[in-house]
Amino acid sequence: VPPNSAPHDPAPTSAPAAPRIGVVGGGQLARMMLGPAIELGLPLTVLATDPAESAAQGAARVRIGRHDDEEAVRALAAEVDVLTFDHEHVPPRILEGIERDGLAAVRPGPSALVHAQDKLLMRERLSALGHPCPRWWRAVSAADVDAALAEIGAAAGEGAAPAPRAVVKTPRGGYDGHGVRIVSAGGDVADWFEEHDELLVEELVPFTRELSAQVARRPGGEMLALPVVRSTQKDGVCFEVLAPAPDLSAADQERIQHLALRIAEDLGVTGMLAVELFETADGEVLVNELAMRPHNTGHWSMEGAVTGQFEQHLRAVADLPLGASAPRAPHAVMVNLLGGSREDLAAGAREAMARDPELKIHLYGKTVRPGRKVGHVTLAGEDPADLLARAHRAERLIIDAVHEEQSA
Ligand SMILES: Nc1ncnc2c1ncn2[C@@H]1O[C@H](COP(=O)(O)OP(=O)(O)O)[C@@H](O)[C@H]1O
Ligand SMILES: [Mg+2]
Repeated sequence: VPPNSAPHDPAPTSAPAAPRIGVVGGGQLARMMLGPAIELGLPLTVLATDPAESAAQGAARVRIGRHDDEEAVRALAAEVDVLTFDHEHVPPRILEGIERDGLAAVRPGPSALVHAQDKLLMRERLSALGHPCPRWWRAVSAADVDAALAEIGAAAGEGAAPAPRAVVKTPRGGYDGHGVRIVSAGGDVADWFEEHDELLVEELVPFTRELSAQVARRPGGEMLALPVVRSTQKDGVCFEVLAPAPDLSAADQERIQHLALRIAEDLGVTGMLAVELFETADGEVLVNELAMRPHNTGHWSMEGAVTGQFEQHLRAVADLPLGASAPRAPHAVMVNLLGGSREDLAAGAREAMARDPELKIHLYGKTVRPGRKVGHVTLAGEDPADLLARAHRAERLIIDAVHEEQSA
């Protein structure tokens, strides 16, 4: 697959030119689809659980209901042409029913989406397809986790200091590090076995950094890759992204883009796909997990690329021609605003705007709680170190003035 296949619209489809879009979930990802939907003239309805949710505050059309309430999701599907998602938690059974009854086109479809919903299914399928993954095991008991740890220990060599460790994950429902635990004994996840029939065990990958590769794919197969970026997690939560990933050769950029394009094609994804990756000391990459929607590691593209990921997702699921994904500047950075000590972000945002007119600020309208994603900032330009320093300065100003004064 060439990284950017089919620059023009393939065969015309019978779909309406401006399909009505329904988004399940009212978080910040749905909220950031609103601007592009208005620009493109696509009527967009959000299914939120509460009128105060991030996207529900801004959407002209809102339905209130839960993502796992079959009636609520079907009612949304019945009044739109295309159903897409803010998160991956809609039960597949509901989506299969919507497809079967022809209520709306589901994009990505349930048969692709399961690989973003269930980390065990994802590992099974990617391994079967030959895509690079960390070593992994399925565990139905603490004894299975201990057996995996013993294998890891044996591979590390006899008498290897420290005791072997592994990463255990709940297959479903995790996000932002919830559902990920580093363990040295099966007993460390005894509580999880009370709620889950099976868990995913992975080797603890000694990665040198984390990368993310994003692609967009239309129903007919047209695809486009964004530049591969470096993402940095703190306590399992993304907080900083640099685009493109520094010190990645053109050949490696292309090789990793091809991996993401192949996965999108193999799984039949429509819309945006993010492939979270570990890069190891020998330059290999391993797939961590998949997201089939706009992704935190793509927020930089809103201002940093010709077509931002939210617009691209809408174009892809609406089966419209994709927009160019080329960067607008040599480098772009994104820094998340994770809730700190202050509840009102407006004063800090005003201060950050005054200090740096090039800064772009996105606030999600969410109640501030410690560590919660409440917004992000981006900058694009020539010097990545300067961009990162300015973005972090703005971050401190906005979320936590006390912190800023101390570290200024
Ligand atoms: N096998 C692993 N080895 C080392 N670190 C890992 C491994 N799996 C996850 N992590 C770390 O935990 C973070 C969150 O894990 P992930 O599976 O992506 O969960 P989430 O669904 O919460 O994003 C990753 O971004 C990475 O920093
Ligand atoms: Mg992740």
